[in-house]
Amino acid sequence: MKVVSVVGARPQFVKLAAVSAAFAGTGHTHRIVHTGQHYDAELSDVFFADLHIPAPDVHLGIGSGGHGAQTGAMLAALDDVFTDPGLCDGRPDWILVYGDTNSTLAAALSAAKLHLPLAHLEAGLRSHNRAMPEEHNRVLTDHAADLLLAPTPLAFRNLAGEGLAARARMVGDVMTDVLLRVRDAVAGLPLALPDPPGDELRDGGYLLATVHRAENTDDPERLRAVLDALAELPLPVLLLAHPRLRAKAAAAGVEPARGAVRLVRPLPYPDTVRAVLGSRGVVTDSGGLQKEAFLLRRPCTTLRTETEWPETLEGGWNVLCPDPGALAEAVRRHPPAAAPGHPYGTGLASEQVVEALAAG
Ligand code: UD1
Repeated sequence: MKVVSVVGARPQFVKLAAVSAAFAGTGHTHRIVHTGQHYDAELSDVFFADLHIPAPDVHLGIGSGGHGAQTGAMLAALDDVFTDPGLCDGRPDWILVYGDTNSTLAAALSAAKLHLPLAHLEAGLRSHNRAMPEEHNRVLTDHAADLLLAPTPLAFRNLAGEGLAARARMVGDVMTDVLLRVRDAVAGLPLALPDPPGDELRDGGYLLATVHRAENTDDPERLRAVLDALAELPLPVLLLAHPRLRAKAAAAGVEPARGAVRLVRPLPYPDTVRAVLGSRGVVTDSGGLQKEAFLLRRPCTTLRTETEWPETLEGGWNVLCPDPGALAEAVRRHPPAAAPGHPYGTGLASEQVVEALAAG
């Protein structure tokens, strides 16, 4: 079997780590195409190095841009890559796309139009928020794909509700595979920050925060309200600043590093996991981080009106807090008494992915 994985943005590299490890030693051919959507070393190269992912076979170097320009440039370039017989010695058996970014949609469209079998990893997630670019990317990709690899029973039911059950398989969540492995590797290590804030952050004495979604960063008033709320929290807030946040805050004339906020650069994946483990709780709008907090048993407060991972809400491990004015009260809540369940599996999803692809 010849499989071509297409990735481009940070969370996709984590998923790719699980999949490429599952392919290693199987005898299947697995090629990696990197669109270049994320290009800063701290958003891309460090993930390949830390998570032992083979270097991409093809790097398109597309970079940033508006949705149309970025997705269109990827689409044009991927047509040439997928039809190059040198890529995997003939026609690929699967184009495998991940999650919900513009790289996902571009590869899905290219594969569909070239009549190449398309598989979507992390299929069936829904926010039902049509203002999110990611919602369009995932819905369109699911409907274009021939094989839908669902991470949870709820995701499978979402697909069934859209008439896609015949193409769907429940394989589990591959991010959990990687997280559980990394958690065990970093548990005893000290907190490592590339640009440490002046004061020392004690384990259990800080909140970990990320903000990068368009809905929180694009409107200057909304962004100001979110950053004001973080600044006023009663504990130090370790804010891992995605370049989008820095760019939008600078454009809006809002300083993120004030009050409780200790602003640092994005962390490599193992250091992020270690920082979550050391935190008293997480404040985020990232899908992956909500799930990571849940799996690491740290209470999460999500700066959104909905989540694609509603399993995290059970028992109060994750709370939706769309109103920045309510953030302080939400983070002061007591951690849940009951341990969370295992809705995301036990770390064996990536083998299921390879099996589902091989079964066709
Ligand atoms: C993208 C995904 C989002 C995902 C996120 C993970 C889409 C529509 N969005 O959002 O679903 O949660 O990745 O991080 O695909 N930039 C840099 N360096 C980089 C990459 C980006 O400075 O290496 C800056 C640029 O100013 C760029 C901005 O970040 O314009 C946004 O980057 P982009 O790739 O468009 O989307 P993300 O916000 O990263």
